[in-house]
Amino acid sequence: MDNSNLRSQDWFGRTGKDGFIYRAWMKNQGIPDEEFRGKPVIGICNTWSELTPCNAHFRELAESVKKGVIAAGGFPVEFPVMSLGETLIKPTAMLYRNLASMDVEESIRANPMDGVVLLCGCDKTTPSLVMGACSVNLPTIVVSGGPMLTGKYQGRNISTSDVWRFNDAVRSGQMTQEQLTVAEACMCRSRGHCAVMGTASTMACMVESLGLSLPENAAIPAADSRRKVLAQYSGKRIVEMVKENLRLSDILTREAFENAIMVNAAIGGSTNFVIHLMAIARRISVALELEEFDGLSAKIPLLANLQPSGEYFMEDLYYSGGLPAVMKALEKELHGSCITANGKTQHQNFQDAPCYNSEVIANTDKPFKNITGLAVLKGNLCPNGAVMKPSAASEHLMKHTGKAVVFENIEDYHTRIDDPALPVDEHSILVLKNVGPIGYPGMPEVGNMALPKKLLDKGITDIIRISDGRMSGTGFGTVILHVSPEAAAGGPLALVRDGDLIALDVVQRSLALLVPDDELAERKKKWKPSHPMATRGYVQLYQQHVEQAHLGADLDFLSGGSGSKVTRDSH
Ligand code: FES
Repeated sequence: MDNSNLRSQDWFGRTGKDGFIYRAWMKNQGIPDEEFRGKPVIGICNTWSELTPCNAHFRELAESVKKGVIAAGGFPVEFPVMSLGETLIKPTAMLYRNLASMDVEESIRANPMDGVVLLCGCDKTTPSLVMGACSVNLPTIVVSGGPMLTGKYQGRNISTSDVWRFNDAVRSGQMTQEQLTVAEACMCRSRGHCAVMGTASTMACMVESLGLSLPENAAIPAADSRRKVLAQYSGKRIVEMVKENLRLSDILTREAFENAIMVNAAIGGSTNFVIHLMAIARRISVALELEEFDGLSAKIPLLANLQPSGEYFMEDLYYSGGLPAVMKALEKELHGSCITANGKTQHQNFQDAPCYNSEVIANTDKPFKNITGLAVLKGNLCPNGAVMKPSAASEHLMKHTGKAVVFENIEDYHTRIDDPALPVDEHSILVLKNVGPIGYPGMPEVGNMALPKKLLDKGITDIIRISDGRMSGTGFGTVILHVSPEAAAGGPLALVRDGDLIALDVVQRSLALLVPDDELAERKKKWKPSHPMATRGYVQLYQQHVEQAHLGADLDFLSGGSGSKVTRDSH
């Protein structure tokens, strides 16, 4: 390779004062001249943070990547970006996904990098890094941090989906606070992200099915030594990708997105997949519509028997053959010719993938469930769409008409949900407004509202819930999310009142508010937004520019990319 073509040479290859400055300050880290001069510079984009516990092992992972980069003749430079931990950040990590993506984009473009390794783990750390990197479009590979080991509590397997069960058990008196405290350590007993097919695992599967990582990246547990081996191989591979000039736009074709959507259906991935994949597609300028998620998913049965749709955990997925085994089972449906980060096609990667346990990874002849992983609903309550996960919903609610019990915002919900006088029964439909991108702001994961205590006491475990918010990928139930337009934008959701009839028909993909049009028009005339509006800073920028859920909830001015060129050079 002619290294003079390397992007980084515009810094380190210069003579005179500029080259002196660029190199001299690198040398204060004790780096010899020959270590970086003329070599591909690989940025390791690290979301390590002790405030993002799922990514707290990433400095170690970065060391493995560095070994691979050095072995392949590259020069690794690790740099931090904003890290979004799902469990601690308030009001919601989603509010900052786009901000983090801007940090990633500008950090990559502004610095002397020829290729990038993205270290991703907790939910938002994957889409924010991929979105930002797409807008620069350098050779890029993803290394995920890996899931936690399966939790063990009182002799049984547990993970994040049990948080919701424990919560209901405490509220209904079946579990004590002391038992809950013991369960905390039992659930999170190793490094890594949530061990079910929640959003983090869904995102790790997304990058592998898009072709952005090496095969097996999605499922190797964080604590398994093979995770470090994969990181080292990824470091080696990114140097080759730079030499081959294999960029994100070469991998992220329309067919690659279709593969990711079909794989997501087969694994019962999180509903958050829709919003993040849409945002990524718009960054790399691939046309994708919300309805296509349903069309592409509809022909794919659920193959992975993983919580929250099934029984097993990410660790089991890995031991059963990992994502390559799932993709092998989908061979007839997938676009096998898509090129992936290792330079091979998807088909070459999965063609010999064995399945070691058909209980965990079923095949299309005998799927785990015939029901599709994702449904996109339309109707006068959600003109631009809403999503739900039928595989995690209740069969008896798939076609149901019920009376709305309306909460104007999340505070209203918390205040009244356990009020014994709340007019709610097992046929009711809970409606939560103002938890969308603009309304909350940031579209939090509150859509799977806990049921009223009086229903739990009656043994009711699921009723229909509708909102413009999101749901944790570890959540379950008959939960309709991402209603677009959101209430705060004046969507029909804003007009729903207590007692209105709402009809859901999942087979027909319809969600209808059974109120006459003229009555809705009257209500619209009187409607006034009631959500809080920020008056300064990032949150104000976010509220002014965030797009609706069906477009991916990115900031409108971040669509597309600006490439890797530095536009001004003042030195
Ligand atoms: Fe980080 Fe679940 S909290 S992945």
